[in-house]
Parts: sequence; structure tokens; C-alpha cells
Amino acid sequence: MAAALKSSFAAGTTLAARPARAGRASRAPVAVRAGKYDEELIQTAQHIASPGIRGILAMDESNGTCGKRLDSIGVENTEDNRRAYRELLLTTPGLGEYISGAILFEETLYQSTKDGRSFMDVMAEAGIKPGVKVDKGLVPMAGACAGETWCQGLDGLAGRCAEYYKQGARFAKWRSTVNITAGPSMIAMRDCAYGLARYAAICQDNGLVPIVEPEVLLDGEHDIDTTMEVAKDIWAETFKYLADNKVNFEGILLKPSMVTPGAECPNRADPETVAAYTLKMLKSRVPPAVPGIMFLSGGQSELEASLNLNAMNQSPNPWHVSFSYARALQNTVLKTWQGEEANVKAAQEALLVRAAANSAAQLGKYDPTKEAESAKAGMFEKGYVY
Ligand code: 13P
Repeated sequence: MAAALKSSFAAGTTLAARPARAGRASRAPVAVRAGKYDEELIQTAQHIASPGIRGILAMDESNGTCGKRLDSIGVENTEDNRRAYRELLLTTPGLGEYISGAILFEETLYQSTKDGRSFMDVMAEAGIKPGVKVDKGLVPMAGACAGETWCQGLDGLAGRCAEYYKQGARFAKWRSTVNITAGPSMIAMRDCAYGLARYAAICQDNGLVPIVEPEVLLDGEHDIDTTMEVAKDIWAETFKYLADNKVNFEGILLKPSMVTPGAECPNRADPETVAAYTLKMLKSRVPPAVPGIMFLSGGQSELEASLNLNAMNQSPNPWHVSFSYARALQNTVLKTWQGEEANVKAAQEALLVRAAANSAAQLGKYDPTKEAESAKAGMFEKGYVY
């Protein structure tokens, strides 16, 4: 066997020059990744997914979505109001104890506090890695089922990533969705997976750790077994294309939705069931080389998101299992702030309460008994866009 291998891989023989085996076409030379940033990517991913106490604060709402949030508390959607809200979040004293990375919208990456400190400096001081949303949003997908979408943003992505890296970003996010009620069609699933893989390869080539997020939407009446099947399919497809695109698994982070029944399914699942399904699905699809699984909250209440994460950390997992929540970290903060300078301190305290609760949950030590009634409010919104 060894001799046969030796003769067919004689010194200097390239893949292209090797004779085709009987019955198989000869293969073209295989592209090799440059890998210039490999070491840094692994370090960044490990910093964000450091076992122990931390997770990600997702605060990358597009201007439109941020506007809806501000509107809910009667604050006008101006650049300065968005900046003020983001300043409140990022300058929360002690935030770096529980948060290792924050995902920003492009605008926020270049903004500063009212007294002129750049957000990049504020985050560096707190030990929080800056991330940036790099997708350009979801649009209806021609040729797929009605209601299915595809994610835009690959054009010019390499150049944008290089710019964001220069500005200080070290990781990125691209959110693509799978809609169970609308389909899901194979063509939409494949497009979602392939788009994520191309994005991931381009990010790594430019020094950014890609967060890979094929969100299986909560919308629908389907049961938890249906979600399980779809989640298995989309993650199988995603890892196939990540591998095809030579993505380094040690330098990525995943942002899955938890495996739950659809938001309108009458049969609800308790945290232990959600954890059992979600971990079973992930263990069958995600290689242990991946450093971190950072869940999205997807419209769950603050309480549910913490309970489910806690249930997933009752025994050791092959990867760090933590959070990358937006709504489940920010809901009470926003309601407390109301756009008033006088409420900033209380709103920051509310953020710390949620960050600490989820930090305890990723250690499996979350205690829900002291939670306020407001944490139970669901945040599901049909057809939610980010
Ligand atoms: P939610 O936790 O609100 O679902 O946020 C999802 C997301 O993709 C934010 O980056």
C-alpha cells in the first residue's frame, strides 16, 4: 500500500499532472488558503468563547430596526440618539466581566462617546472585542417558496472587511434565515448555507472571525421534531459548504437558534427538552474543533433565554456553549432608559443584571428565583427582520 502511494505521488507530481484513475475524471488543482491570519483568528475566537464567564452582546440592529426599538420608547431615530443608546450599552461599568465581544452596526464602529472617546477605545479598555454586522439584509428569493429570503452582501465584502479590520473590528456577523412556515425549499437552504460559507471564507481572509448564523425562525405552528429535522439539514448543508470553501473551523463561531417548537405551536417544551434536542442536533453536526456556540435569543423572553442556556450547561459540551443575545439582553434596558439621561444608570444596571444572569447560565449556575416579572415578557414578532 505504502509503495503504491509513493509511486502515484512521485516527487514533483501535482494533482493535475497525476494520471486519472480508471473510470474517474482527472481533478483540477486544489486552491490552498493563504492562512495569513490563522493564528490571530484562533486567538480571537478563543477570547470570545473563553470558557468560564462570558458571552456576546449583540447590538448590531440596522438603522431601520434600531428605529423601531427607539420608537417603542418614544425616541426619535436620529444618528445621535442611536449613538447615545449605544454609548449607554458600551460604557456600562463592569460590562467586560460578563461580555467578551459586542457586535456593532457599521455606523457604531466609527462613533464615539459624547465626551469624545472612540467606542473602539472604550471596548478595548473593557476587554470587549469589537464585531461588525457585514450582511446587507434579507430580500425575497426568486424561485423559492413565497416568504423565503436570501441574504445580500457578498459584493465588495473583502474590501469592507479589510476596512473594518483597520478600524479595529476582529469578528463579523452574517445572519441568514430558514423559514419553516414558508418552505423550507432546498434551493433556499442551499443558498443560505453557501452564502454563509463564502462570507466566512472572505472574513477569515481579512482577519475577521466569522459568526455563522443560519437562523431557523421561530415563526409557525410546527412542533419541536420538525424544527429538529430542519436544523439538522441546514447545519449539515452549512458545514459541507464551510469545508468546501476551506474555512478554518477553529477560527469561526456559531450562532444557532435553539431547537424549540414554533412560536404558535400549542405544545410548549421545557428548558430540559429544548436543551436535549438542541445539543443532540449540534453534536450530530458540529465538529469539536469549533471553539464556541453562541446562541441567539430569537424572540424568547429574557427569562426563557437564560433558562434554556442554563439547561444546556448542566454537563460538559465539546464546545463553549454561551450567548450572543440582542433582544434577551436589551429589552429591559431599553424600557428602563426611555431616552432620559436621568435613567442611564438604572438602564446600565438592568444590562448588567441580564449579562450576569446569562454568564451564570453558561456555567449552568443560573438562579431564576430572583428574576423580575418583566423578564418573563415574550419578544416574539412575526416576520422579524434584523
Ligand atoms: P436576537 O437575540 O434578538 O435573536 O438577536 C439575533 C441576532 O442575530 C443579533 O445579532
